[in-house]
Amino acid sequence: MEVAMNEEPSDHSRLALTPDQMREFGYRVVDVLVEHFVGLEREPVGTKGDSVRLVSLFDHDPPEMGRDPGEVLSQLEHDVFPNNLHVDHPRFFAFVPGPNNFVSTMADALAAGFNVFNGTWLGGSGAAAIELGIVRWLSRVCGFPESAGGLFVSGGSMANLTALVAARHALLQDRIDRATVYFSDQTHSSVQRALHVIGFLREQMRKLPSDKNFRLPVHDLRDAIRTDRAKGLRPFCIVANAGTTNTGAVDPLIDLADLAQSEKMWLHVDGAFGAAALLSERGRVLLRGVERADSISLDPHKWLFQSFECGCVLVRDVALLKSAFQIKPDYLRDVHRNPAEFNPGDHGVQLSRSFRALKVWLSLQTFGLSAFRNAITRGFELAEIADRELRARKGWEILSPAQMATVCFRFGESDDLQTQLVDIMMRDGYALLTSTELRGVASLRLCTINPRTTEQDIVGTIGRLDKFARELDCQD
Ligand SMILES: Cc1ncc(COP(=O)(O)O)c(C=O)c1O
Repeated sequence: MEVAMNEEPSDHSRLALTPDQMREFGYRVVDVLVEHFVGLEREPVGTKGDSVRLVSLFDHDPPEMGRDPGEVLSQLEHDVFPNNLHVDHPRFFAFVPGPNNFVSTMADALAAGFNVFNGTWLGGSGAAAIELGIVRWLSRVCGFPESAGGLFVSGGSMANLTALVAARHALLQDRIDRATVYFSDQTHSSVQRALHVIGFLREQMRKLPSDKNFRLPVHDLRDAIRTDRAKGLRPFCIVANAGTTNTGAVDPLIDLADLAQSEKMWLHVDGAFGAAALLSERGRVLLRGVERADSISLDPHKWLFQSFECGCVLVRDVALLKSAFQIKPDYLRDVHRNPAEFNPGDHGVQLSRSFRALKVWLSLQTFGLSAFRNAITRGFELAEIADRELRARKGWEILSPAQMATVCFRFGESDDLQTQLVDIMMRDGYALLTSTELRGVASLRLCTINPRTTEQDIVGTIGRLDKFARELDCQD
């Protein structure tokens, strides 16, 4: 069909749907999500799809003419959503689960729908105000002073990177020659990667063996710093853990803060997983000393129940973050006219950035702080229930007792058996856990931060593990 010159382009050419089509499609999306949230516990914990089959389904050029959005949604429901692990499933105990909440999900839809530009005050003042409010609140939760601030980032990896850039800028004026950084062998790999990205060589990183409780040994650290200074090196940063990924271990934060202070070094605390526990009484006790850090990573997409991607970096003196990152190009002259305005893009790597703080704000407003405190405390208790269940059964060894909603254990002597158990549980579909390595041996691990997990879920999971472990043991 020929289009006359004065004819308006069709809705499709304007990439638009009619109001009725938008409603129909939008309501269907909401229905799919509600079904997911309410029906999840009755579903398998997820599937790792066959790579040849799945890739072949989507390795095609897009159609020249559009398809019915409802039909496309059905395809997603059939081929995509079931072929993922449901990290929000109440019996997903692997890695660090992502037990997001429905309000957070809707906040993402709003942020995307309004396509809020959260890079500058000029572009998104309402969004920047909410971000500032949440960041200041989180700073208070961490015990930071008024001078503190920070910003939302994609997750812990980016939070660690952002903090380390601030440290490099503040203490080394960005010159990293002979500078050295210290952390334990339990530290998340994102720290090493961040250091690599910002220019540090392997020989400038000191990965110290952890102690019997998987904590950074202060004595060894002090010796390492002394040895390096004697060699003319420049020790400048200690990275401590507020909840390691492996075992939930918390490094001795008070001693590390003392050491960092006396050595005039930066103390970064990676609390990507654990720092949210500060909202609970138990977390506050375990994380004493965190308030003395120079910077902290805290991921709301982990133990603060938000959908991905939602990390946060906090810096004791936010001016240091700004001076590390701010650049004022000509085309942003209108953005920088009023220095009192908060421009998130001046405090990190991203300029165009989504409105991540909205989901944290909206879900806190909806459920209230006490619900979050209870949900976090529940995580601690569920790991302790798992710990007790395991100890009550023969053949199971606890490699790291329940702490920070994490427990590590194994059955029998064979590393292979632990791996087989992970595979069997995945095929079985009732619950999922993953393995790690602790002091050279394979260990199973449960991370129990989902507040929708029941005691029965834990007991059922351990019961299944026990049954499968004994069956495997008999085959050997
Ligand atoms: C302690 C710790 N730090 C950093 C990270 C990296 O976070 P992200 O995957 O959000 O980048 C994780 C992820 O599990 C973590 O547990």
